Amino acid sequence: MRSNVTREDLDRVIDYLRQNDPRLTQGDNVREFEKEWSDWLGVRFSVFVNSGSSANFLTMAAFREIFGIGEVIVPTLTWPSDITSVMFNDCQPRFVDINRRNLCMDVSSVLELIGENTKAVFMTHCQGFNGLNRLLLETLSEKRIVLLEDVCEAHGATFDNQKLGTFGKISNFSFYYAHHMTTIEGGMISTNDESIYEILRMYRSHGMVREACSREVRSRYQTDYPQLNPEFIFAYPGYNVRSNEISAIIGRSQLSRLDADNEKRRENIRIFLDHLDDSKYQVDFDLDGNSNYAFPLILNEPDFSLRDRLEAVLRVNDIEFRRGSAGGGNQLRQPYLKSIVEEEMFSEFPNVEHIHFFGYYIANIPDMTVDEIFELCSILEKL
Ligand SMILES: Cc1ncc(COP(=O)(O)O)c(C=O)c1O
Repeated sequence: MRSNVTREDLDRVIDYLRQNDPRLTQGDNVREFEKEWSDWLGVRFSVFVNSGSSANFLTMAAFREIFGIGEVIVPTLTWPSDITSVMFNDCQPRFVDINRRNLCMDVSSVLELIGENTKAVFMTHCQGFNGLNRLLLETLSEKRIVLLEDVCEAHGATFDNQKLGTFGKISNFSFYYAHHMTTIEGGMISTNDESIYEILRMYRSHGMVREACSREVRSRYQTDYPQLNPEFIFAYPGYNVRSNEISAIIGRSQLSRLDADNEKRRENIRIFLDHLDDSKYQVDFDLDGNSNYAFPLILNEPDFSLRDRLEAVLRVNDIEFRRGSAGGGNQLRQPYLKSIVEEEMFSEFPNVEHIHFFGYYIANIPDMTVDEIFELCSILEKL
């Protein structure tokens, strides 16, 4: 991956630092970034935090406050915090296999798994692909099951011409280095629900009541707890996952070119898939509404010797790659889940197993040239 921070982003930070005594902790730039992000996404509220993982943790904390505990359906191909956030909040993760065409949760498996105790579906829009369809949205709404969206890998992707991250009750984004845009480290939580927004704001800052925007919320606590210093009432068992002004300035600068960068990445992946050797690699991805910061490279066949040769060729040609796709492949194989996952379970999830052993991604960088993409495809074809 290549750093997406430009000279212009850095100059904006430097300009800001030239002032006497610039504020560095969370302030006006954070507020403005949240507002600009909400406008860009098309939601009412956003909360800027220090990582996408923090966005996941706060999402599940707010979810538990409002909806209580229960089962949450999660993917087997995702980032660990999508699963640990469920566990840390006393909910039970229930796992489903992925759909090979979009790497997201297989919708029919989700529908099969829905039961009496299902409280939520925490969808990860993996690697820039959309994981939603009408049937899923209608079923969840009919059964009053909450949709949470992890859009950490899919900024700007859409379903039915509407941005991902606007369908769920709460949605999450990451701004880590290699994603569509970066704030060095950072994440965003978005929602249209004002009471969830207030809880998220408090959870972000130690659970503190003075972080709530609503005067009514603040005065309710002050009236109920007259013996507490009104500036230091801790309503929730919160965290400190705030970000800072420098990250927000970079974020605001990056956001102004996100759409243009995404368009370029979209063109890149089409060229890549059009020229990739389909006798060896999967090319039939569902590109409807996609926004990929990486090229998926998945062997058609489970062939270990081809896989070893592929890795050797990529290394020799100095092409950075990641095996297992998002988050280190099949999460069920990761030691952090050992206490709740039996080894025999792996075979129940053949699609994610294939990605685990034979799936890769390679950077899709906006300023990549067409010739670089052709060269990449030709190296992969010669294998
Ligand atoms: C799907 C998904 N969710 C959450 C995260 C966590 O984001 P962060 O690295 O900003 O903590 C990532 C990380 O890349 C991710 O890919």
